[in-house]
Amino acid sequence: MSIQPAQDIERHYAEADPWGYDGNPHDQRRKSELLALLPEREWNRVLDIGCGNGFVTFDLPGREVLGLDISAAAIEWARARQARLGQAEARRFSFHAGSMFDLDSVVSGSFDLVVITGVLYPQYLGGAFSVLQTLLDGVLSEKGVVASCHIHEWRPARFPYTLLDVNFYPYREYMHRLEVYVR
Ligand SMILES: C[S@@+](CC[C@H](N)C(=O)[O-])C[C@H]1O[C@@H](n2cnc3c(N)ncnc32)[C@H](O)[C@@H]1O
Repeated sequence: MSIQPAQDIERHYAEADPWGYDGNPHDQRRKSELLALLPEREWNRVLDIGCGNGFVTFDLPGREVLGLDISAAAIEWARARQARLGQAEARRFSFHAGSMFDLDSVVSGSFDLVVITGVLYPQYLGGAFSVLQTLLDGVLSEKGVVASCHIHEWRPARFPYTLLDVNFYPYREYMHRLEVYVR
């Protein structure tokens, strides 16, 4: 399967919530499973790769949380959500439209937590997992944590970091595999 062109992805975000996450108990569950599996730590800089409209992003801990998505429309929806937050909370978040394949140029500094949920699928990643892995190495701090959450049937590869925890649970008609790694 070839990678979906950015303009096709963009078309999904003619709607604020293209995959119907808001109010869906499966999606609420995937979010709470992820938050529950994160190690107890003070998180400083957090990166959400393929953040979409911010469905997961806004519940992430961290002093500074950056959401990155290839879709400019998704980023606009995320910013609209951000505008509805109180000022102090809103200040924790920033969003950037750009590709995970340009991580080295679109993101600066390092992150102690990187979250990637629903992104490592063939239509977005093709066979370029090793490319993303190299880019991730460049932005993940020493002892940094990666939380990855995907449909198990669609996402066989694992990150080559130390696996801290893994959780499987039903998600829609599939199983989800949630993994937490430390570098
Ligand atoms: C299925 S959605 C998941 C959204 C969000 N992570 C969540 O769990 O709610 C996949 C997201 O990955 C984004 N995406 C796809 N290819 C990308 C790329 N090369 N760089 C950044 N984001 C990408 C899409 O625009 C879309 O918002």
